[in-house]
Amino acid sequence: MKPINLGLIGCGTVGTGVVRILYSKNELLGNRIGIPLNLKYVADLDTTTDRGVTFPPGVMINDAWKIIQDPEIDIVIEMIGGEDLALKLIEAAIEKGKHVVTANKALLAKHGNRLLSAASKKGVDLAYEASVGGCMPIIKTLRESLVGNKVKSMIGILNGTCNYILSKITDEGINFQDALSRAQDSGYAEANPELDIEGLDAAHKLAIVTALAYGTHLDFDNVYIEGISRITPLDIQFAAQFGYRIKLLAISKDHGDTIEARVHPTMIPFDNILSNVNGTLNAVTVTGDAVGDILLYGHGAGMMPTASAVIGDIVDIARNLAFNAAGRLPLLACQPEKISSKSIMPINELVTHYYFRFEAKDQPGVLSKIAGILGKFGISLASVHQKGRKSGGSVPVVMVTHFAQESNVRTAMDEISRLDVVHGAPMVIRIENDNHLE
Ligand code: HSE
Repeated sequence: MKPINLGLIGCGTVGTGVVRILYSKNELLGNRIGIPLNLKYVADLDTTTDRGVTFPPGVMINDAWKIIQDPEIDIVIEMIGGEDLALKLIEAAIEKGKHVVTANKALLAKHGNRLLSAASKKGVDLAYEASVGGCMPIIKTLRESLVGNKVKSMIGILNGTCNYILSKITDEGINFQDALSRAQDSGYAEANPELDIEGLDAAHKLAIVTALAYGTHLDFDNVYIEGISRITPLDIQFAAQFGYRIKLLAISKDHGDTIEARVHPTMIPFDNILSNVNGTLNAVTVTGDAVGDILLYGHGAGMMPTASAVIGDIVDIARNLAFNAAGRLPLLACQPEKISSKSIMPINELVTHYYFRFEAKDQPGVLSKIAGILGKFGISLASVHQKGRKSGGSVPVVMVTHFAQESNVRTAMDEISRLDVVHGAPMVIRIENDNHLE
């Protein structure tokens, strides 16, 4: 039987994992598909590094375009990351009628509408399971398994680096910078760590799963993003006193006409299962109207977990090819002409609970000034703590609110930060009290 020919572009960490699985499980995969897979080419600028695999002669090449031009290649596996070249290669592959597998979340978040539309017009598959959550099958879950549900919300820990950093600050009391250095030394952070710590990587992933969950176009530009670089050990200690842990959460919720899509440090109760997902692990809870709550949990990055997701995509496409059924699954959740134009809600409309920390002078009347401004904007307090006495002329004053609206919180914070008894910018952390999966 004529094999299905694969061309892998980019043989870095994940690419090497893909090669390892393809070589070590070739017979098993062939049995599972019904047609053998043949890795015809692996293209990488570095053709000499020992990757611990032996390529048959002629497989390793340094010209990715040779894969695109080769009419025998059925599936192109894009593993180079980045945006410019990856976009050109994927567009050219689609144009040539090739099916594509990618793990490139930044590319999909920003150019996904264009790429998915080109692929569906051409009738080719574009698979992207590994773009979100490494080995966790969240794309398949949303696109296939939960197809009988109206998804109500998703809450995820989608960036292992931030989860590692926050876990280190929580468990060892070290500061943000030291925790980041440890993440970098351990090889967890992206080449540009800003993508991780400023929340962009999680937002890329959230944009993808939000479109799938609610049947909308990808809308990365309107995802609200806030990173973890301002989180201090002090906030983590206060959070614990209130019964919370701080996580970088990616949250999306369906509100009917609009959807929430936001990434920011969030306090969640100890008994929420996500608060016990630590280190580099990822997890996502999905709430559907039929299924209730489900949880996916696993390695969100790393050679073999991510390669496992890529292989799953290759096999899905190969199985479609075996039955001449490319394009069987819509590339987002529903048929392209049925995609909804629901928009992402501006963050100012968010209503949630908040934690505030002010560095305030330890003198009479300070609390009443702060509370007065909060009251003026309809922000009601659930509890107030003041820790210790004067250190460097100020003390941390911490408050937790009942439900409040973000626009009011922002205006109140502006006013409070102008008080001469308050030093520096207030710390504001949103609290997620939903009781799912406790
Ligand atoms: N930098 C990402 C993370 C890797 O830390 O989760 C996988 O996307």
